Amino acid sequence: MVQVSELLTTPHWSTEIPLDTPHVRLPVLAEHGYVQLRDFDESIPESEWRSLEYMDWKSGGDTNFAPIATADGELDCRGFWKPGDERPDKGGKFTSNAAKCPTITRFVESVGANFGRVRIIKLEPQDYETSLRQIHRDDNNRFNPPDEGWVVRSWLELTDNPDSFMVLMEQGDDGLPDASTEHRVPLHRGARFVVDTQRLWHVVCHNGEAPRYALISSFESGPALDRWIASQLP
Ligand SMILES: [Fe+2]
Repeated sequence: MVQVSELLTTPHWSTEIPLDTPHVRLPVLAEHGYVQLRDFDESIPESEWRSLEYMDWKSGGDTNFAPIATADGELDCRGFWKPGDERPDKGGKFTSNAAKCPTITRFVESVGANFGRVRIIKLEPQDYETSLRQIHRDDNNRFNPPDEGWVVRSWLELTDNPDSFMVLMEQGDDGLPDASTEHRVPLHRGARFVVDTQRLWHVVCHNGEAPRYALISSFESGPALDRWIASQLP
């Protein structure tokens, strides 16, 4: 089987993203960097993701994104890092898409934690080798004051893709993903999980025929997120 080390070229931009910082982190993520939650038990009407406005934005493959919360409420995938108006990935404001997806918006608010960018990803099918070429770490905590909570991301799978999975790997001593730490998160409809995507290299292998849709939300680590995760464990 193909090894991730054969596919990535060094230097890789992800390697330089900080791993060790003084930010507040959640003990529940300490060991593995991710936590699987109970499946979502509410049904979300398809119109809540199909009727949104999507933007051409590439991240982790052939993707489009529908922003539901951004830095200023505008439909803009870069919002938080606008030159001259840089902000950490929290304090998100709902966009015009939010009114079209009330179940999803309610879910994000029900977490009770400070959220930043909230968006739906539309990912075209990509096989395992193709996905590994896109594996990366996120720069979630750029401009995040070091005495505040570490920003992590949560997923809620909207389409049913039992043959697809998210690949997670710790960073090895060489600054690249360590294949021996690979973990695969299943992506059936309703699957939910929280990942420290600045710590773990991640990408989705999507073996389906049709695009996969999922909700991705940035949340600040702290007592509120901790309580919510504890209440959602399997
Ligand atoms: Fe990412």
